[in-house]
Amino acid sequence: MRLTVRRALAVIVCAVVSVVIVINVGTLSAWRDGKRTPELPWDDATLRTAALAAAAVAPRDVRPLTYLLPPPADVGNHVLSYMPNPLAADVISIENDTSRLSQLLVWPHQSDSDRIPEQMNYAPRAKPSDAHLKTIYVQTGLKYWNVAAGRHVFQEQKCRVDTCRVTDSRHDAGDPAAVLFRNHYSAHAMTAFRRTPSQVWIWYQLECPYHSQWLGKMSGVFNWTATYRHDSDIVAPYERYQPYDARVLTLPLRRNFAANKTKKVAWFVSNCGSRNNRLGYATELGQHIQVDIYGSCGPKKCARRKHGECVKMLNVDYKFYLSFENSNCKDYITEKFFDTGLRNDIVPIVMGASKEDYTRAAPYYSFIHVDDFAGPAELAAYLRKLDANDTLYNEYFQWKGTGTFVNTYFWCRMCAMLHYPTKTKWYEDINDWWRGQGTCVKGKWSDGGDGAGLDVPY
Ligand SMILES: *[C@@H]1O[C@H](CO)[C@@H](O)[C@H](O)[C@H]1NC(C)=O
Ligand SMILES: *[C@@H]1O[C@H](CO)[C@@H](O)[C@H](O)[C@H]1NC(C)=O
Ligand SMILES: *[C@@H]1O[C@H](CO)[C@@H](O)[C@H](O)[C@H]1NC(C)=O
Ligand SMILES: *[C@@H]1O[C@H](CO)[C@@H](O)[C@H](O)[C@H]1NC(C)=O
Repeated sequence: MRLTVRRALAVIVCAVVSVVIVINVGTLSAWRDGKRTPELPWDDATLRTAALAAAAVAPRDVRPLTYLLPPPADVGNHVLSYMPNPLAADVISIENDTSRLSQLLVWPHQSDSDRIPEQMNYAPRAKPSDAHLKTIYVQTGLKYWNVAAGRHVFQEQKCRVDTCRVTDSRHDAGDPAAVLFRNHYSAHAMTAFRRTPSQVWIWYQLECPYHSQWLGKMSGVFNWTATYRHDSDIVAPYERYQPYDARVLTLPLRRNFAANKTKKVAWFVSNCGSRNNRLGYATELGQHIQVDIYGSCGPKKCARRKHGECVKMLNVDYKFYLSFENSNCKDYITEKFFDTGLRNDIVPIVMGASKEDYTRAAPYYSFIHVDDFAGPAELAAYLRKLDANDTLYNEYFQWKGTGTFVNTYFWCRMCAMLHYPTKTKWYEDINDWWRGQGTCVKGKWSDGGDGAGLDVPY
C-alpha cells in the first residue's frame, strides 16, 4: 500500500517536472527567436540563486554588472549569464519595433552617453524609399575612407537604414543631404557651392585640439560634428566597449594575472615631446618603482617590426603599462589605451582625458588614473601595494569578459541620422566647442581646464 502511494507521488513529480521543462523549452526558443521582449518566468533573485548553485560558488565571490545589453552566445571567460538571452546573436540590436525605434534618444542634448546603440537602432517611422537615396558628398575625398562610391557600404554593413549613397564627385553630388569634411575645411573650396538649408555640413575630426585645424571665425558653417568627443552628434571613438547585461554575474577569476611576472611598469613610446609632460612624469615615477621605457625616449629597445614579441614580453613580464596620451584633452582616449592597454594582460595607468571620461569609455575598474594621486611618488606607493598583493592586483582584471569591443558602424549611423525628421542645428562657435575653456589641461584635471589653443598662435 505504502509503495503504491510512493509510486503515485513519483509519477506526479515526474509529470510536473516534464511540464515545467516543456514550458521552459518553449519559452527559451521564443526568446532565441528574438521576436519579442521576454518576460521573466521567475524573479531575478530566484534566477540568481539557481545560477550560483549551478556554478557552485559562494554568493560573496560573484558580483552583478550594472550594464545594459545582453552578452552574445559565446559568453566567455569568467562571466556567468543566468538567463536565456533573447538577443544573443546581435549585440547592437535593441528592438524590432519601428514605432519605438523612432523615439530613441539620438542627439547629444538628450543624453550624456555617446548614443551609439541608439543611433544604430534608430529608424524613421515610415520606411524610406529606395528610389530616393540620401547623398553624402565627401568633400575631402573618399580615398581616406576605404569606402566605394555608391550605396555599397550601407548594404554591406546591413544598416538598419541603408537608403544613402556616398560620392566625392561634386558633379554627382547634386544637392546632397550632407557634406562631410574630414579634418580640413576650406572656405575657398566651397565658395561656388550652392548650400541649401536642408543640407547638413559635418565636421569629422579624430586628432586632438592641439593637432587640428583652427576653426576661428567659422560661425554657422557646420551643422553636426563627428569626433571622438562623446558630445559630438555622431560620436566616432577610437574603440567602443559595450558591456553586457545587468543580469549577468561575474565569477571569480580562474587565472592569476600576477603569476610569474617579474617586472613592474613598461612604456612603449616614440614621441618624446608632449603638452602634458608625460615623459617627465614617467621619469619621476621611475625614481620610485621600476619603469622600463622602450623606444626613442628611453634606454630600452624593442623593434617595431617585432611588435608581436614586444607585446608578448609585456604580457608575460610586466604588471603595469603607461597608457599616456600626448595631450590631456576632453575624451581624448586613443588606441594606446584600448589596444596596447586593455587588450593585454596588464593594468593600464592612464594620463590624458579626465577620470570621468575614462570611466564612461572603459570597463569598470580596468585602469588607474594618475589624477587619483598627488604625484608620481604616491602613485608608485600604490603600485607597490598592488604588486605585493595578488588579490588587489587581480581586481583590475575582473572586468575581462564582461562585455565586448564593437564595430560602431559610423556610416550606418550617419545614414540613419540623415533620416531623422528635420531638425535644424548648427555650431555658432565651433572653435570654442572644440578647444575653448575646459577642453584641455596641461596638468591635472582637478586643477581646472584651460583650453587648447586660446593661447596658441595658429
Ligand atoms: C521584425 O523583423 C522581422 C524579421 O527581420 C520582420 O519580418 C518583421 O517585419 C519585423 N517587424 C517589424 C515590426 O518591423
Ligand atoms: C607560470 O610558470 C609556471 C612554470 O613555468 C607555469 O607552469 C605556469 O603556467 C605559468 N603561469 C602563467 C599564468 O603563465
Ligand atoms: C591582500 O588584500 C586583501 C584585500 O584587501 C586582503 O584581504 C589580504 O589580507 C591581503 N593579503 C596580504 C598578504 O596582505
Ligand atoms: C545648417 O546650418 C545652417 C546655418 O549655417 C542653417 O541655415 C541650416 O538650416 C542648417 N541645416 C540643418 C539641416 O540643420
